[in-house]
Amino acid sequence: MRAGRNPETNAYRLIHGEADGWKELYVDRLGDFLLMQSPQPLTDPQIDVAIEWKNRLNISGVYYKQLNRLVQASTKRNASPRLVMGLESPDTFEVQESGATFRLSLNEGYSTGLFLDMRENRQRILNNRVEPGFPVFESAPANSFVLNCFAYTCAFSVCAARTGAATTNLDLSRKYLDWGRDNMRLNGIDPGHHDFIYGDALDWMKRLAKRGDTYDLVILDPPTFSRSKKSGVFQAKRNYPNLAKAAAPLVGKGGMLLACCNAAGYSGKKFKEDVRIGIRLSRRKIVNSFTAPQPPDFPATAKEPAHLKVSWLRLN
Ligand SMILES: C[S@@+](CC[C@H](N)C(=O)[O-])C[C@H]1O[C@@H](n2cnc3c(N)ncnc32)[C@H](O)[C@@H]1O
Repeated sequence: MRAGRNPETNAYRLIHGEADGWKELYVDRLGDFLLMQSPQPLTDPQIDVAIEWKNRLNISGVYYKQLNRLVQASTKRNASPRLVMGLESPDTFEVQESGATFRLSLNEGYSTGLFLDMRENRQRILNNRVEPGFPVFESAPANSFVLNCFAYTCAFSVCAARTGAATTNLDLSRKYLDWGRDNMRLNGIDPGHHDFIYGDALDWMKRLAKRGDTYDLVILDPPTFSRSKKSGVFQAKRNYPNLAKAAAPLVGKGGMLLACCNAAGYSGKKFKEDVRIGIRLSRRKIVNSFTAPQPPDFPATAKEPAHLKVSWLRLN
């Protein structure tokens, strides 16, 4: 149980495909529930392994979600995981991650509300340490400002707000921003002290830059593909240089850009180059950087290379 040794964390991956001897099977513990994911219907041996984990971790219910791009794009009901064993989950329930609480749902479509593979990056913000000697914030976190560009349920912002930083959250979904407000409340943070902006991230980044706003940390974690009325089609693999170029002017001097991407078939090397191209085009320089690997419960192998690309970049 690679990530399960921290008693304050009850949301982590138990089985990561081939690296764990289970080709195309992914199993996550989400508090009292298990979520199994596979492109194919579950086999008997896979159901047996679920029973084993269910008993070992005292799990209430086991859900299954078919991994499939078409399912992802279909209705909320079709995309949501379905119960295969045990008790149904409440509409929403809470999980713990290193002392923080996040609201999850297995009834809200393809995603559950928390990307487990980002755990260590959330911790980096919470602990104000990218790695030893490389803090996230150069000055006191409590005096810092964070722009979270594709904020989703604001998990990064919850961690930033816990350090005392003020956050601005941009997302094209009002539902997710409301979910983010709830996540803040769950952690004793008043969302009224933070900004939540509904709209297209690229459009808003331009507006904020025009106003001359700068931040100590700018987070870019776009979806693989997005379409908005304001900016048209965004495709991570093609448009990351442009995104990084739009973000760099918003990073104050000595501030941090956290650039992430989860697009399959977009190599880590190309991603890094694209981010650097964007930063160069905006005439900024990188003075320190760190490439974060996937956490230990998402082991990358030659057959299943890392899907997540994460660069922490201090700009002058
Ligand atoms: C990959 S998720 C971000 C995950 C988040 N950073 C986290 O760690 O929890 C992508 C988010 O981008 C939002 N989104 C998609 N297109 C967008 C756009 N053009 N502008 C702003 N947000 C957008 C989606 O609603 C979704 O919440």
